[in-house]
Amino acid sequence: MKRDPNDPCYCGSGRKYKKCHKLIDEKLEAARREGFQIFPRQKLLHAKDIEGIKAAGVITRGILDMLAAEVKEGISTQRIDDLVAAYTAEHGAIAATLNYNGFPKSCCTSINEVVCHGIPSKDRIIKHGDIVNVDITTILNGYYADSSRMYCVGEVSAEARRLVDVALECLNIGLEQVKPFTRLNNIGDAVEAHANANGYSIVRDLCGHGIGKTFHEDPEVVHYAQPKKKGVLMMPGMVFTIEPMVNQGTYKCKFLKDGWTVETADKKLSAQWEHTLVVTDTGYEILT
Ligand code: MF3
Ligand code: CO
Ligand code: CO
Repeated sequence: MKRDPNDPCYCGSGRKYKKCHKLIDEKLEAARREGFQIFPRQKLLHAKDIEGIKAAGVITRGILDMLAAEVKEGISTQRIDDLVAAYTAEHGAIAATLNYNGFPKSCCTSINEVVCHGIPSKDRIIKHGDIVNVDITTILNGYYADSSRMYCVGEVSAEARRLVDVALECLNIGLEQVKPFTRLNNIGDAVEAHANANGYSIVRDLCGHGIGKTFHEDPEVVHYAQPKKKGVLMMPGMVFTIEPMVNQGTYKCKFLKDGWTVETADKKLSAQWEHTLVVTDTGYEILT
């Protein structure tokens, strides 16, 4: 679309288009011609939405903090779910996973060889030495905030500890790649390089995702390397998760018949940490 440079900018700043978004639009048009995908402007979130996601994120973080004292040897994963459900309700929020595409619980609990989407159960008792991922997504006033952490139960093996630590480093290295007008795929390139350098693999079957007013939306955020792919450019106002699943052995996964639980194909350990973030004018801000 041709715009008059002297018209007011479409963004509502009150400045002339030529003094406001014209330069950015020209840069994006050049990037599009080079083969990059330009994320639709209407899908970018504004300050009010970011505040909404942040408020949901306070609850998500509160739950994960609360669980640090609760995830212990001898409790069931159902007990974790009960605690999550109670905290969520007390804070006037909704657990996004409950009834999400038929998922029956208020969080995911994924232990040892479980990669993700483990279903809390009264029959799964947490044992000394387990590494447990709890994944929480909270909805507050229609806004979603998704985050997960690992909990080490008692004294875990040195190997398990190293996997958990490297998985957190992978999340942080992914976050460091987030800069506006650069490749979204820089995340996967850096994350997989770090995992491989430590002798680990990165799950390919599951990805990070756009989030905000819905749970899972564009863009898809892969955590493995695609160095030749131009793909999507990050833009200020994009909100998405980074949540690399790091495996001790093969990256390959097995999907269980319960319709949800994902395990490593070789039954070796898997670890994951997740944050929701927004791309800013200069980098990123974590919202969880
Ligand atoms: N919170 C998960 C994610 O990081 C999604 C869980 S969906 C469920 O995207 F249905 F398995 F709970
Ligand atoms: Co999650
Ligand atoms: Co997620």
